[in-house]
Amino acid sequence: MNIAVLGAQWGDEGKGKIVDLLTPSFSIVARYQGGHNAGHTVYVQGQKFVLHLIPSGILHPGITCIIGNGLVIDPQALFAEVDQLASLGVAVGDRLVISNKAHLILPYHRELDLLSEARRGDRKIGTTSRGIGPAYEDKIARRGVRVGDLAEVASETPLADAVRENVEARNRLIGGAAMDWRRVLDHLRTAWVRLKPWVKDVSLYLAEARRAGRAVLYEGAQGTLLDIDHGTYPFVTSSNATIGGVCTGLDVGPRAGDGVLGVGRACTTRGREGPLPTELNDEIGTRLRESGQEYGASTGRPRRCGWYDAVAVRYAVRVNGVDALALTKLDVLDGLDEIQICTAYCCNGTTLAEFPGDLGQLAACTPVYESVPGWCVPTKGARRFSDLPEGAQRYIRRLEEVTGVPTGIISTGSDRDETIIREESVVPRWLR
Ligand code: GDP
Ligand code: IMO
Ligand code: MG
Repeated sequence: MNIAVLGAQWGDEGKGKIVDLLTPSFSIVARYQGGHNAGHTVYVQGQKFVLHLIPSGILHPGITCIIGNGLVIDPQALFAEVDQLASLGVAVGDRLVISNKAHLILPYHRELDLLSEARRGDRKIGTTSRGIGPAYEDKIARRGVRVGDLAEVASETPLADAVRENVEARNRLIGGAAMDWRRVLDHLRTAWVRLKPWVKDVSLYLAEARRAGRAVLYEGAQGTLLDIDHGTYPFVTSSNATIGGVCTGLDVGPRAGDGVLGVGRACTTRGREGPLPTELNDEIGTRLRESGQEYGASTGRPRRCGWYDAVAVRYAVRVNGVDALALTKLDVLDGLDEIQICTAYCCNGTTLAEFPGDLGQLAACTPVYESVPGWCVPTKGARRFSDLPEGAQRYIRRLEEVTGVPTGIISTGSDRDETIIREESVVPRWLR
């Protein structure tokens, strides 16, 4: 079985933890979009790992990790991550495969990211300043530099010409000291020496792997509501975090997956900018932030927190064809007397059951809450659904009713073993 694990909210749902947990049932873990804007945290027996570009399966020996063509890669960020993993005792070695068609983040993409944010002023996206958007802009404008271009085999536009044209365009856009394209070229040629052994034709690699019966786990980054097409545009990232990204970002066909697991947290969070209908700007919001340690894995910035938004998750279920959900951070709700679930929005006096595509309409929406009783016994470390306090069981069952899909995995702490994998028949067979 090949399955996709992707974010059902605004990112940081705990995808890294869930991917790490499921990895032993797979042979390959493959990322299909995004870049080092992602920060996927995995704790193994108290040791913390944060993966940005490398799939979260890397912590398991013998697993091959793929970086697909749909990603944008900053070579320096990649090398830093490989070195960081080595210092923590994880050898990447030849277990990494990088698509020759993935695009590169060049040194000036970060500058352009910062400049574009500064120019937007109050309307800024709140990007991670990693150069992600500008690198995808160059890709779509058909002037990007791809990993395979660094090989400098015969191509229509030799690498030096492509880099010169790009840097000259950058110099026209950004004032101040002009960037020297020759230095950028040198930087890329140096990077190629280290990248080369990992670079392959991923489409071919995956086709052969699947013929050989090797199971693939597709790891999403960001989340459905941050998707360039399906998210709260323009407060989104520049790639398809949703299920379609698997096909376009890994060069595989629509039948390359057998199931979709959406990851959603019991308390919703998002970064600094953009709409978050259930945001709590009160002491409960502060409590959720502190008990959940809600600070960005990549940026360290505080995350905004709110109640579970079933309208947004229902939308993610629809857009991705989610078969089951993994519910993370249940423990963060421990000890609350009362918990709210947003089941619909109220928009100019009418009830809206489905997530609106228009940001103006979303801004006019207020959450319609359903209140459920909380629980006082800690959920942390529970191993079976029946070990959970009655209130937590009821809360999860209600989430299943309002989202329309079963909860296959429940996470009650950041460590690998603080997890319940449901065995009930409602859960898809590939999870049990
Ligand atoms: P990702 O980007 O989706 O992989 O998520 P992040 O790693 O950015 O953020 C999730 C955070 O929640 C990380 O710090 C995880 O260690 C942590 N986490 C994951 N699951 C749980 C859980 O069930 N309970 C608690 N308390 N923390 C969790
Ligand atoms: P993971 O994979 C949460 C957000 C940024 C910003 C918007 C655009 O860890 O869930 P970008 O730098 O991509 O152009 O920023 O997207 N963002 C994320 N938020 N988790 C992420 O990744 C994110 N990656 C980008 O905060 O609002
Ligand atoms: Mg994250």
